[in-house]
Amino acid sequence: MSLQLNYVQSYAAMVRAYLAAYPEDEAVARSVGGNLEHFGVLEHSLLRQYGLKDNGRVVDVGCGAGRLAAQLRRFPEMRYLGLDVVPELLDYCRRKMARPDFRLELSQGNRIPLADGEADFVIFFSVFTHLLHEESYVYLEQAHRVLAPGGRVIFSFFEFAVESQWSVFEGNADWVRKRSYLGHINVFMHAEDLRLWAKRLGFTVVAMERGDRPSIEVTPDTAAGKVPAGQYPLGQSYCVLEKPAG
Ligand SMILES: C[S@@+](CC[C@H](N)C(=O)[O-])C[C@H]1O[C@@H](n2cnc3c(N)ncnc32)[C@H](O)[C@@H]1O
Repeated sequence: MSLQLNYVQSYAAMVRAYLAAYPEDEAVARSVGGNLEHFGVLEHSLLRQYGLKDNGRVVDVGCGAGRLAAQLRRFPEMRYLGLDVVPELLDYCRRKMARPDFRLELSQGNRIPLADGEADFVIFFSVFTHLLHEESYVYLEQAHRVLAPGGRVIFSFFEFAVESQWSVFEGNADWVRKRSYLGHINVFMHAEDLRLWAKRLGFTVVAMERGDRPSIEVTPDTAAGKVPAGQYPLGQSYCVLEKPAG
């Protein structure tokens, strides 16, 4: 990484700074971008749209404060593995989810600690946005290994083609201009490059959606709290990949 990137801090350092400055619930919400319920409902709805069943086996890499887990926890047969690099977030999730059967583990070395073929979905919501491309690629290799044939990956990403995502890039460019703010890295990807990644990794591309299109359907079954049924954009773009059956 460029030696000039001294205005970028690690995710763990950012979470610890928030925990020192705010009450825990607020600190944790800020750490993952806020709107826990809104994004949790959209993430859950998206998984349902692409085939998640009530007894699905979900791996949530970069699970953060448990936005997705909070929506899945009401399904007793749902099997869930959440991975993250920040122990404080995993600890928070463990307490809030109150599902002893939900595995919440520290991610080490970009590995997914499952045997081959043990997962139906591997999810990376707003995670590749904070990694180097090589790290995301290795995670996708791992996802391919642990998915059962027909299993799917869903990940979100920033792209320059979506006007509303430029504010993130401009904000980061400002850190460089002013050298006055320490934030975490925000990485952009290109949808056409992701198609090349998918081919190399042995995935089929099921969907590639712009983040500004209201492509997520929140149904009466996935609606919750202050998020009613309807069509919503995710904000970040997203990609759905499938490990071909057979
Ligand atoms: C913006 S938050 C998103 C959290 C969660 N996916 C959600 O949608 O609520 C990004 C998360 O990725 C985690 N993260 C950062 N680097 C990671 C890595 N190399 N492996 C796994 N998780 C990572 C962060 O700790 C943080 O919890």
